[in-house]
Amino acid sequence: MNKKIKKIFDKKNKSKIVCLTAYSKNIAEILDKHCDLILVGDSLGSVLYNYKSTKKVTLQMMINHSKSVRLGVNKSLMVFDMPYKTYRNPKEALKNVKLVLKKTKCDAVKLEGGKKIIPIVKKLVQNKIPVMGHVGILPQSDKKFTFKGKKQQESKRILNDTKLLEKAGAFSIVLECIETNLSKKITDNLKIPTIGIGSSANCDGQVLVIDDLIGLSKTKFKFVKKYIDISRIIEKAVKKYKLEVIKKRFPTRKHSFNT
Ligand code: KIV
Repeated sequence: MNKKIKKIFDKKNKSKIVCLTAYSKNIAEILDKHCDLILVGDSLGSVLYNYKSTKKVTLQMMINHSKSVRLGVNKSLMVFDMPYKTYRNPKEALKNVKLVLKKTKCDAVKLEGGKKIIPIVKKLVQNKIPVMGHVGILPQSDKKFTFKGKKQQESKRILNDTKLLEKAGAFSIVLECIETNLSKKITDNLKIPTIGIGSSANCDGQVLVIDDLIGLSKTKFKFVKKYIDISRIIEKAVKKYKLEVIKKRFPTRKHSFNT
């Protein structure tokens, strides 16, 4: 097992796994000091491009952002989120993942789905590619984004999906918007760590979209906590800059090239 993956794996039942998304180098550099795992999520479609669905995110967009993130990530595990229709069968998945690894030097890939994607996960794992699973709300295929695990049948299916993913060789699984008791049941039943988003404190780790955490996005999801309103801070600086330019207080002699 790769050293970075082992570090994540070894945290199960010991300490929480801290994860965040990043889409560019400057942010990734800050997160790398404090996170165990940095995900280049296809959430960048809605966060940066205003897309209504992640379905419009392309492999090339993900590669471009990941190349930038790679420049800022040193110690954390960097995970590439495979976009929609890039892993419809084992052959397609392997071809695209090989390209992604070559171009971005990411450490692992994440795929959405349960039972249906098991042959794909197996194929990648057989090729020594670390795979992270993703169950619960599946933004690439779900029509409704309501939390999962309300009904017994649905809970059973999701629990079974996580067992299959573990058996297929996934090193970790994201649980997106899963009911609190079900999150506990899944986490307790697996040897691999679960990473929650909207899935309570019962998971082994937690992930959030960085723009939501720092107040750059306008989303108001129940599971998001805004730790700082960075857009206000940026606006304050921009207003001051504008005033100084208009009043001819900037640039000064100090910022100019003088002979
Ligand atoms: O795309 C993403 O950012 C994700 C996280 C929400 C887990 O998949």
